[in-house]
Amino acid sequence: MDLDTRPLHPLFAAEVIGLDLREPPSPVLVAAIDAAMDRYAVLVLRDQDLDDDQQLAFAKALGTLEPSAAVVDAHLQRLKHPEMVDISNLEIDGSILGAEDRRRMFNLGNRLWHSDSSFRSTPAKYSILHARVIPPHGGETEFADMRAAWDALPESTKTLIEPLVCDHSLIYSRALLGFDAFTEQERRDFAPVPQRLVRKHPGSGRRSIYLSSHIGTIHGWPRPEAMALIRDLTEHATQREFVYRHAWRPHDLVMWDNRCTMHRARVFDDKQYKRDLRRLTLEDSAPTLEQPV
Ligand SMILES: [Fe+2]
Repeated sequence: MDLDTRPLHPLFAAEVIGLDLREPPSPVLVAAIDAAMDRYAVLVLRDQDLDDDQQLAFAKALGTLEPSAAVVDAHLQRLKHPEMVDISNLEIDGSILGAEDRRRMFNLGNRLWHSDSSFRSTPAKYSILHARVIPPHGGETEFADMRAAWDALPESTKTLIEPLVCDHSLIYSRALLGFDAFTEQERRDFAPVPQRLVRKHPGSGRRSIYLSSHIGTIHGWPRPEAMALIRDLTEHATQREFVYRHAWRPHDLVMWDNRCTMHRARVFDDKQYKRDLRRLTLEDSAPTLEQPV
């Protein structure tokens, strides 16, 4: 079975036509989705009027869910499923978060290019994000193709970075925005984890640069030199030619492969308008250092 796809970008990302995700997918459909993900890395499905249970059932059919969100103030959970990550600017009661709220400050980190859960020892495979409420302007999500970015590197850079291992932590990404208001417990929960800088994407056999704003150092390198290289690589990998920009409509479901893409949220007037998206995240098979390259 092949999905009916329409490319959204010359390098990656496609819209999938004609699926209704309210019913959990058959094994045949799951295999077709995986094949399309291996090719495109970002899939867009419009007009999917899903509730939380339906989104959860769809995600579970595709793989193993990450158990719970890694966020500050994790006890303030608006959504009923602990596995569901609340990508919104909303308070538990549905009102807009206060401008100084610690959760708002923390969530601003989503504006930095990252790969979801690269700060977990076993990081994320797919993210499955569903739009419920969209602001009138802004709030797009941009995706960058890390396989194409690898392909475009000079050979000398490929040789340099191929063996490198980075440490990733939420503490590092938030520090880039000047946020350091973590509790002692959160500091322990968000301790750095090692990840390879260059990965082999199993479904396509292609290499990708495993970049993320969660990177805080490279093993064996002086930290400023490490971060200068990571910044150079990030600038290279997020050039416009490698980026697909998704303008959301309510009921869009977008899924992406965190093993070979980065993404970031774009600004919107989050003190005036509501934006409510809900994410489920599939675990990868193992820590990147235990995966074949
Ligand atoms: Fe994300």
